[in-house]
Amino acid sequence: MAKINVLPKHIADLIAAGEVVERPSSVIKELMENAIDAGATSLTVEIRNGGVTYMRVTDNGSGIARDDIRNAFVSHATSKILTEEDLHGIGTLGFRGEALASISAVSRVDVLTRTPDDEAGTVYKIEGSEEVLLSDAGCPEGTTIVVRDLSTAWPASSTASPCPIPRSPSGSSGTTNRSW
Ligand SMILES: Nc1ncnc2c1ncn2[C@@H]1O[C@H](COP(=O)(O)OP(=O)(O)OP(=O)(O)O)[C@@H](O)[C@H]1O
Ligand SMILES: [Mg+2]
Repeated sequence: MAKINVLPKHIADLIAAGEVVERPSSVIKELMENAIDAGATSLTVEIRNGGVTYMRVTDNGSGIARDDIRNAFVSHATSKILTEEDLHGIGTLGFRGEALASISAVSRVDVLTRTPDDEAGTVYKIEGSEEVLLSDAGCPEGTTIVVRDLSTAWPASSTASPCPIPRSPSGSSGTTNRSW
C-alpha cells in the first residue's frame, strides 16, 4: 500500500461535499430543510439551467445573526444539537452541521439574511469555501441563499476530475464521475 496521507482540509471538504451534494436537487433539499428548521412559513425556490448555474431559496424564517454567519459555513457547526444526549432527541430535519459547508465547497454562495433582532441585515459571499464578502445589507427578515455554478464549473473540483463521489453506503463499489 502507498503511504498514508492526512488529507489537506480543502480535499476533505470536497470529499464531504460529494456526499451531500450529489446533484442540484440535493442542494435544494438541504436549503428547504434549513428554511423549515428556521421556522419559515413561506419559502420560494427558483432555479435556472436545472439548478446547475443558479438556485435561490428564500424564506421568512428566523434569519442568521451576523455573529453566526461564518460558523454556518464551517463543517460540524450547527445550532441544532450540542450534546451527545441531543442525538437521541433530534427534532429538526438537519443536525450534522454539514450542508452549507459542503455546498459552499463546490459552488459560489450568496446569503442575504436578517433576524428580527437586527436592524441591519447581512450579506455574505463564499466561493469554494473562501469568504469573499461580509457586510451590512438591507433585507427583510429571513434568509435568501443563492447557489451559483455548482460543481463541474468550479475549478476546485474540476481540476480533480474525475471527482470521486462515494455512492454506496458501504463505500465498496468504486467511484463515479459528477455528471448532471
Ligand atoms: N435558512 C436558514 N435560516 C436560519 N438559519 C439557517 C438557515 N440555513 C442555515 N441556518 C443555520 O446555519 C446552520 C448550518 O446549516 P447547515 O445546513 O450547514 O447545518 P444543519 O442544518 O445544522 O445540519 P445538516 O448539515 O444536517 O443540514 C444551521 O444549524 C442553522 O443554525
Ligand atoms: Mg441543514
